[in-house]
Amino acid sequence: MDIWNERHVTVVVSGGIASYKALLVIRQLMKRGATVRVAMTAHATEFVTPLTFQTLTGQPVVVDEFTTSDPHHVVHVALADWTETLVMVPATANLIAKVANGLADDAATTTILATTAPKFVIPAMNSHMYANPATQRNLDQLTTDGLHVMAPATGLLAEGYAGRGRLPEPAEIVAWLTDQLIQLTPALPLSGQNVLVTAGGTREAIDPVRYISNRSSGKMGYAVAQAAREMGATVTLISTPTHLPVPAGVQMVTVNSAAELLTAVSARFSTTDLLVMAAAVSDYRPVNAADEKIKKPANHANLTIELTETPDILKTLAPQKTTQYVVGFAAETQHLLANAQRKLTSKKVDLLVANDVSKAGVGFNGDTNQVTLLRPGQDSVKTPLQSKLAVARTILETVVADQAWRH
Ligand SMILES: Cc1cc2nc3c(=O)[nH]c(=O)nc-3n(C[C@H](O)[C@H](O)[C@H](O)COP(=O)(O)O)c2cc1C
Repeated sequence: MDIWNERHVTVVVSGGIASYKALLVIRQLMKRGATVRVAMTAHATEFVTPLTFQTLTGQPVVVDEFTTSDPHHVVHVALADWTETLVMVPATANLIAKVANGLADDAATTTILATTAPKFVIPAMNSHMYANPATQRNLDQLTTDGLHVMAPATGLLAEGYAGRGRLPEPAEIVAWLTDQLIQLTPALPLSGQNVLVTAGGTREAIDPVRYISNRSSGKMGYAVAQAAREMGATVTLISTPTHLPVPAGVQMVTVNSAAELLTAVSARFSTTDLLVMAAAVSDYRPVNAADEKIKKPANHANLTIELTETPDILKTLAPQKTTQYVVGFAAETQHLLANAQRKLTSKKVDLLVANDVSKAGVGFNGDTNQVTLLRPGQDSVKTPLQSKLAVARTILETVVADQAWRH
């Protein structure tokens, strides 16, 4: 279940050059299941019209609290009481100053003062405005008062020069907000659990510039790490180098070869509650990696690279297993279920995720996946073709249900 699902979120938009980016943040929150209502300052309406926010959210937008026609309805109190999470994006220097001092001279600031919901502040302004001691003093005051302030980004400002004060990218804002909410929510399904996830295809060196690897993108492992974090776990992601963004709140460890992966997993296994081995580990590595780049011989002779087996990580860890719940992955191109069933018993895993990587939209590289979940002594479960994040959630929900059944 997504932490944003059915959450009542009030977004306060103040008047800055980044006001339009609030639309992109709101879209992402709504995509994740939130119901969003917007309160705007009068100056914000100079940058984006209330109609745009109203159309996007399907909810009335609050700007002026003195023109309501409903005699039973005090606008800011109704909105404040409805709110479960309040996000100020973008928060101007002016809005920050007002909130730090408890001013309530319009619908937006009155709603902020009147709500008891957790409040998140995403500042965006010119770098000199941000660095001004008055703004810094006001931001410190917000933190002292228990509001959560996101650090602005450094980069090119609308003024044409670079500095600190830019609004972070909408995806980064949503990732930060999500991680803040997780930290504020104590009873999530994986709260208190240490989850170790491996991802990506290992790289086995041939020489200093070449390696043997596979087509794994790491996307499935990163999705599991994100989903586990969003279900409250403390997550470490051990990955081979990828271009994927590190999920918010996840601790990252980078490795290259199967041997390095084994060392990294072994060092953490005794303190792990749940291990998810989504990495595609090379079965073989060159016997000897050359110290220097291998050159073409003058006689154009064939080059032979002798390979030897890499350590089998799950088999190596099996004897050390005590209370850990272990999830393995099997990527197969034929005889999927027979091969997966064999892996399930030989590697002592609690849940095996079987992937037919020869099918379109399944397995390596893409953003979708369809898997079969196998557990010892239980019927296999086939998931529909869906996003890797949705598949990751299904896997983890199955683990949580299994853990509950075990205790
Ligand atoms: C074109 C333009 C861009 C602005 N951008 C910002 C900004 O990014 N951040 C900020 O704090 N103020 C910015 N301001 C100044 C605010 O609009 C001004 O301080 C206003 O009083 C803020 O009102 P509000 O906080 O009630 O929305 C900008 C003003 C203009 C005219």
